[in-house]
Amino acid sequence: MCSVIGYYGDHTAAPILIKCLKKMEYRGYDSVGISTRHDNAIITKKKTGMVSEVNKTMKLYKLPGKIGIGHTRWATHGNVTDINAHPHVSNSGRISVVHNGIIENYIEIRNNLIEIGYKFYSDTDSEVIANLLQYNFEKTPNIKKSIMNTVIKLRGQYAFITIFENKLLAVRYHRPLIIGLKDNDRFISSDIFGVSTEIDKVIHLEDRSFSILDKKQIHSYGFDGHLIKYTMTNIKRGISTISKKNYEHFTLKEIFEQPESLLQIDVKSISELSRIASKIKRLYIIGSGTSYNVALIAKYLIGKYCGKIVEAIVSEEFTIFPNMDKDSAVIAISQSGETADVIDAIDIAIRENIHAYAILNVPTSLLAMKCDSVAKINCGLEIGVAATKSFTSQIASIYIFVEKIIRRKLIDLPHTSKLISRILDNELEIINISQVLKNTLNIYVLGKGIHYPIASECALKLKELSKIHAESMFGGELKHGAFTLINNNTYIIVINPQDETYEDMIISVNEIKSRGAKIIGVSNTRSKLYDYWIRIPNSSDETVFPLIEMVPLQLLAYYLSIEKNLDPDHPKNLAKSVTVK
Ligand code: F6R
Repeated sequence: MCSVIGYYGDHTAAPILIKCLKKMEYRGYDSVGISTRHDNAIITKKKTGMVSEVNKTMKLYKLPGKIGIGHTRWATHGNVTDINAHPHVSNSGRISVVHNGIIENYIEIRNNLIEIGYKFYSDTDSEVIANLLQYNFEKTPNIKKSIMNTVIKLRGQYAFITIFENKLLAVRYHRPLIIGLKDNDRFISSDIFGVSTEIDKVIHLEDRSFSILDKKQIHSYGFDGHLIKYTMTNIKRGISTISKKNYEHFTLKEIFEQPESLLQIDVKSISELSRIASKIKRLYIIGSGTSYNVALIAKYLIGKYCGKIVEAIVSEEFTIFPNMDKDSAVIAISQSGETADVIDAIDIAIRENIHAYAILNVPTSLLAMKCDSVAKINCGLEIGVAATKSFTSQIASIYIFVEKIIRRKLIDLPHTSKLISRILDNELEIINISQVLKNTLNIYVLGKGIHYPIASECALKLKELSKIHAESMFGGELKHGAFTLINNNTYIIVINPQDETYEDMIISVNEIKSRGAKIIGVSNTRSKLYDYWIRIPNSSDETVFPLIEMVPLQLLAYYLSIEKNLDPDHPKNLAKSVTVK
């Protein structure tokens, strides 16, 4: 989603803001802007494009001043245009705002302000914040009161940072925002990773709170004006540094990190979650996108091994079911712990007194704060917009979760890690297949049983990274309708390891072959029915297949994006954490 950043310190703000925005660009990247305050005036430059590009053309780095705010946008209200880019400056020119989230009642506020003479230049919801602050400040020239009178009028879920006269404001209503400190430098950021190398201490702001910062002091208040005493924590540095190392893209680096990231799972926290959840009768596993695919795997595994009632639900569709009671729990699966649909679902569960648990990667996230128990996959920072290493770690966590309940080992993680390394060694074979597929417009991906969510994840990666329309289906489902679309130019990927699903899938493959389509088999054995074979290692234990078979398909989606000259780290119109509804 949008990233917001603020700086107040001893140094010129603009180059520091740009450095941080580059790191946070994975959150949203359709336009960029910076405001700084110098000689009592606010200067703003903004434009569509990515940080490096806009910095070069607009010379953002040259903006003077030691106080500044910056933004990278993921459009929600208003097209991707220069004028809609943030920051938005109030009519007086004294207040500049960068915003992440949505102001639901912005039209009403805007119309009221227009009636009393305010002018609006953008189509965004964010511009109302700057002018409402100005309006309230002109009525009561007190910064704290102006913020309180502003937030009381705003409806929606948001966080914003403001240059307000000679102060920097951080305002958080239900969207991530932290303050970071080092020596005399103060940072405000939507994302700790954007500033992690610049700070040594961090304050996590609470929902419905705001802070007023200058070089010497930070004063924090609740939206009702009560003083908040914050605790500062020392910042921990994770296993991943924010660098591509020798890889061309973060996405590729993260795919290659999987043998290692898989071994970083916090088994203790998962065991604790299992212990708690084992007493619960009904489990509702929720997630969005890739994390929902993991929820489907969880449904399969927990249902098969633990004999519990399990439902997998896309977070935005989560609602309270009639039989949900104190014997029910919601387990949210999320890499970021920030996804708005997931947070909203958990809020529903909490409101209804249902246990709320999470399996996540970012332990400082909003979701972590809300849930009663949190299991950590610890796969390290995932910068590539497409989830890769978090997917394998999430699946492995589910296996561990199940193992602890049934008190029996299902997978050997060090061995799995070695199998993944062997897959990655076969990168060249995948590059060859990507050359075959690069001009294809549509691909079907088939899976049966526990492999269906893998097919679904493969289709998602192909859409995201390589912009090929891909659709996942159960192995035998094509014959119930989609057969009519099959011809000699159709490519079908089948997830076909040698386990209980193998023979049935081979029947489907035969039917498909006789209609002319070309088969790409993902399997540990070569079948003569495959036109192309994506080899996965043999294993005496078939339970390992769901954990490893997505890895070559991640590589395939990545190399297709390279073949098609796309930017795999920044797929068009996407953002890493979808923090808005
Ligand atoms: C796909 C992808 C998204 C996320 C989804 C949920 O590659 O990255 O589909 O999986 O937005 O995000 P988290 O897991 O952070 O809640």
